[in-house]
Amino acid sequence: MIQTPYYLIDKTRLLPNMEKIAYVREHSGAKLLLALKCFATWSVFDLMRDYMDGTTSSSLNEVRLGREKFGGETHAYSVAYADHEIDEVIANADKIIFNSIGQLERFADKASGLARGLRLNPQISSSSFDLADPARPFSRLGEWDVARIETVMDRVNGFMIHNNCENKDFGLFDRMLSQIEERFGSLLGRVEWVSLGGGIHFTGEGYPLDAFCARLKAFSERHGVQVYLEPGEASITKSTTLEVTVLDTLNNGKNLAIVDSSIEAHMLDLLIYRENAKVEPNTGEHSYMICGKSCLAGDIFGEFRFERELKVGDRISIQDAAGYTMVKKNWFNGVRMPSIAVRELDGTVRVVREFGFEDYVASLS
Ligand SMILES: Cc1ncc(COP(=O)(O)O)c(C=O)c1O
Repeated sequence: MIQTPYYLIDKTRLLPNMEKIAYVREHSGAKLLLALKCFATWSVFDLMRDYMDGTTSSSLNEVRLGREKFGGETHAYSVAYADHEIDEVIANADKIIFNSIGQLERFADKASGLARGLRLNPQISSSSFDLADPARPFSRLGEWDVARIETVMDRVNGFMIHNNCENKDFGLFDRMLSQIEERFGSLLGRVEWVSLGGGIHFTGEGYPLDAFCARLKAFSERHGVQVYLEPGEASITKSTTLEVTVLDTLNNGKNLAIVDSSIEAHMLDLLIYRENAKVEPNTGEHSYMICGKSCLAGDIFGEFRFERELKVGDRISIQDAAGYTMVKKNWFNGVRMPSIAVRELDGTVRVVREFGFEDYVASLS
């Protein structure tokens, strides 16, 4: 038995996402890049690289990781590059996408050996949660003024537009893309490639993949561009669990079970977005609030149903623990950092990384 807590990446559950990605690639002509901001656990890149074209990044560290550990096509993007990092970014990228005209003007000459792109902001929201909405009012994420963009068209041959956010609704994607075409139509035909970013939940159950592929293909043909997608969550959805053990149970009017993990430290995104974790099948007579072991009063994974009473030593699998989890884990309270384990396609499980006191010490000084 592997010591908990640990993230368990199951390649048999990752594979169906990869197969859908391959389908989209084949039927739409788009190229698909893994968004490392969401998932950067390189131990499973051996599987993923057979189905995806490369990676996209948000920083120097990510672009290097993409080049060194994934390979294929490596896109560099950052909200802002610093002077001291730009040379290394350029050395590790095939394409560089600038977030603003200011950054483009500052670094375009240095990056003249690469394909250069600009992020456009269509100011169309797919999310009502402004924390995660790139098109929120006064957003710093990309340029929106066509007249200003016109002035730098001689220095770019591509665009990146990311305005979807966990979008499961193909109709909404389709409508927003039409609005983008209306707004930026005069520019799209003058570049060679357009990345439509991430945030599209096309690997989810029931998503109309053929309509999606046809829409991407029509966009590509209408404007004469190579389309890219940057799936993060869609690449790894439902592939991973966080395995935890009950350390204590108590009743304060509700049944509580405290586990050897922390939502604050190990699944921070859920806390930020005020979402519950998922436990399956979540049926049975016994209801428990599953709580983390950090000191944070709200360190709560959620309330779930179980077939029997929980007791110390019981193991629980928190579902869907791949995206924006391992990339955000932290040492809050010094809580033991979950190991990372991989279930191979033949069913064998191997621990690929363990973290100990030395890692905790090394994270501070
Ligand atoms: C530019 C860009 N590309 C891709 C992604 C990946 O998004 P998702 O994980 O929702 O697919 C993001 C997420 O914020 C992003 O900002």
